[in-house]
Formats: sequence, structure tokens, C-alpha cells
Amino acid sequence: MSMELVNVNVGLLGCGTVGASLCKLIDEQSEAIAERTGLTLGVALVAVRDVSQSRDVPIDPSLFTDDPNSVIESPDVDVVVEVMGGINPSKELILKALELGKPVVTANKELLATHGDELYSLAKQSEVDLLFEAAVAAAIPIIRPLRESLVGEPITRVMGIVNGTTNFILTKMAEDSMPYADALDEAQRLGYAESDPTADVEGHDAAAKAAIIASLAFGGQVTLGDVHVEGITKITPEDIDFAHRLNHCIKLLAITEKQKIDGEDALCVRVHPSMVPLTHPLATVRESFNAIFVEGDAMGELMFYGRGAGGAPTASAVLGDLIDASCNLKRSNSASIGEFKPMKISPISDLESQYFLEVEVDDQPGVLAQVATVFGEHHVSIRSMEQEGLDSEARLIFITHKAFESDFQAAIKALNELEAVRSVGTVLRVIGID
Ligand code: NAP
Ligand code: HSE
Repeated sequence: MSMELVNVNVGLLGCGTVGASLCKLIDEQSEAIAERTGLTLGVALVAVRDVSQSRDVPIDPSLFTDDPNSVIESPDVDVVVEVMGGINPSKELILKALELGKPVVTANKELLATHGDELYSLAKQSEVDLLFEAAVAAAIPIIRPLRESLVGEPITRVMGIVNGTTNFILTKMAEDSMPYADALDEAQRLGYAESDPTADVEGHDAAAKAAIIASLAFGGQVTLGDVHVEGITKITPEDIDFAHRLNHCIKLLAITEKQKIDGEDALCVRVHPSMVPLTHPLATVRESFNAIFVEGDAMGELMFYGRGAGGAPTASAVLGDLIDASCNLKRSNSASIGEFKPMKISPISDLESQYFLEVEVDDQPGVLAQVATVFGEHHVSIRSMEQEGLDSEARLIFITHKAFESDFQAAIKALNELEAVRSVGTVLRVIGID
């Protein structure tokens, strides 16, 4: 018996890297989608900034408009896909679509990490879907596993490489000795970077994803402002060399973990470059690939791996959500994300971590002892140290045992005040040796 087909008309907000790939994917997969789901998906209207621009997409040019409100309000549009990016006007447009009872699929992590609570709560109230698998790590299914499969798991920590641009840059610098600026240009050319790549290289894109992951993994309200952020712009080729000599690589990690502060549960959510041992699964993640490493008391360790950026991988995740939202619409159903409870966020100064540090000092008797004394006075214990002679100075490379961030930062301040210290180089947090 053949399945009865149901038409679902899509209103697309944005037809750039992701939107254009989605149009192509819908066109290529329409027959297979109809066969498997009984849905015939069609793009009814597309909002862009510049309607005069010619676009390589299988969409009739008469369907383009520069008025996104008209897309939302059109009676011909059943489901809205927002791939414009930015907070405004995306937020108002999504709120309006939800108020009108139209399901929304979005890839907009910046918006969700800033105003997620308001959007999730309106979706719940309106009993329509707001789906966002593509917002974190593009093609990798991580939102659905966190919302569904792992919802009962006592998750303890999630660590991820969640920005394709920076992972691409760090890989090219490490493996091909490519200068930072050339690697960034290449990442932009390949469609990995945000329209303003500062969001990628300064860690803000990864921070938005960290906030979304933290909310879902721990059920707490976490916004972009709660995330401690450091990007990769200060990482030098020398830092990468040092890391390799110590059997590590440097990755920009988004980390969220539960801590107890004064007996109360707190979340630490942070993004920073980290030294990762070459034996850790995250060290094998190269180029624009992403991976999310989830640790839980019952399940142990899980790693999700795949393409974390680019038009087609992101469109793949958007299409999955679009089909899901359309099926739910057909059944007058919706998947609510639930409500996140307020949760204490612990400051970075409360972090306990191992650290890598490079210090250049005068090569004179007693200097090493002075440096070691500063560490000792600030409760920082040295795990390993290497010394390299330069002309009249010496380079000292330390890895510490676990220490409190506040103690470690105080030790750096004190080191900078020593006359024999010429410079304190990059500081990196080290993942999992102790
Ligand atoms: P993009 O290439 O810059 O495309 C943005 C599109 O939105 C363009 O078509 C633009 O129109 C349109 N647009 C922007 N502001 C508009 C406005 N006010 N009114 C009407 N149209 C407007 O961006 P993208 O890379 O596709 O990213 C889109 C979203 O997906 C962002 O939220 C991004 O963070 C997210 N995302 C991207 C990736 C990726 O790898 N690129 C991966 C995951 C998630 P014009 O074409 O006329 O300029
Ligand atoms: N600019 C983002 C990245 C796109 O490089 O990962 C995917 O969200």
C-alpha cells in the first residue's frame, strides 16, 4: 500500500553557506524523503539581504524576498528555517513564527546561547518544535543524544572541539607549518568561519556552543555570559612545538563540568586552548572536524565525531530537524525541551587544573631556585621541568600538578616581578595527566 504524501512548505530565512546547501540537499533528496517519510518538502519563500544577487540554488528567483517578516507571515509557509545568523532580527522573527504556531529549525548558536530560555519557553507554551541540532558541531548529532538518550545519565563532564575554523587553523599550523593568517584565509574560503571570524578565533562561537551543551547536559540555565572564554590568537608556532615535544597537541576545547562549591552543585563552563595528550581521543581530531567527549558515572566515556562546519554538513543536520519538525506537525505533536533551572556558575579562579608554562630567565646561579620558590609559596607543585640554554638566558618549561587557578595566576604575577625573569610565555591548561 503506498503512503499518502503530505506537502510541507518551508520558509527559509537566509540563503548563504548553509541556506544554499540546504536548498540543494532538499532538491537532491526529495524523492528519498518522500519515500521514507511521506513528506514532500518544498521551499516556498526565501529571505535574503540582497535579492539582486545571483545564486547557484535550485529555487525559482521569484521566491526570493528581502522582507523576512513576509516569509514568517505567509500562509504558504508551514515550517520556518532560520539560517541568517545574528541576534536581530532573527530573535523577533523566531518568536513571531512560534507565536503563529509554526515550528522553527535554527542553526543559530549565538541566539540560543543568549536568549535560549525565552525561545524554549515560548515554543513549549505554543506547543511547537524549536529544533537546533545544527547549532552545535554542525553534522554531529549531539543535541538529540543529550536531550533524549543521555537525559537520565549522571553526566560529569563534557569536553569538545566544537569550532571547525580554529581546529583547522591549529592543524595547519602544527602539520604544515602554515602561518596563522593563511590558515584563517583558507578556513574562510572553505565556508567554515562565521561572517565575522573574530567569533571563531577569539573563542566566542565555541563559547555559545559550550553554553548550549552545558544547559542540556546538566539541565541548568547557562548563557554565553557565563562562559570563561580565551581564543587561539595568542598561540604561537613555538607553543605548538613545545606541546609536541611533550607528547601533546594544542586544541581549543569547550569544557563543562560539575563541581561542588561549599557543598553546593556548581557548573564550570569554559573555552580555552588546552594541551591534550597525544594518546587522548580528542588529539586525533584534525582539520575542521569536531568531536564531543562525554563522561558519565553510569555510561563511562562516549565520543561523537564528525564534520563540525561547512555548508553541506550543517545543512544535513538542519534537514534532519526539518523532517522531524514536519513529521511532528503532521501528527500535531511537538518535542518540548523542558525548562532549565537556575544553577550556580563557578568562576574560573575556582578551577583546579594542571598547567603548562614557559618562562625565559637569566642563565645565572640560583635563578631556578627562585622560580621554584615562587611556585612553592603559591601552592603550585611542579610535575616536570625542562631547561634549554639560550645565549645569556635559559628557557624553562614547566608542567604542574593540579593547582587552583587563583594560586597559579598569583604565581605568574610573582614570577613576572622577579628580576631574573625576562618573560613569562603562553600559559596553557593541561588535560588529564594526573
Ligand atoms: P552566511 O553565509 O553569512 O549567510 C547568511 C544569509 O542570511 C545570507 O543569505 C544573507 O543574505 C541572509 N541574511 C542575513 N541577514 C539578513 C537579514 N537581516 N534579512 C534577510 N536576510 C539576511 O551565514 P552561514 O554561514 O550560512 O550561517 C548561517 C547560520 O548558521 C549562522 O547562525 C551560523 O552561526 C550557523 N552555522 C553556520 C555553520 C557554517 O559552517 N557556516 C555551521 C553551523 C551553524 P545575503 O546572501 O543577501 O547576504
Ligand atoms: N564557524 C563555525 C566553526 C561554524 O568554524 O565551527 C560551525 O558552527
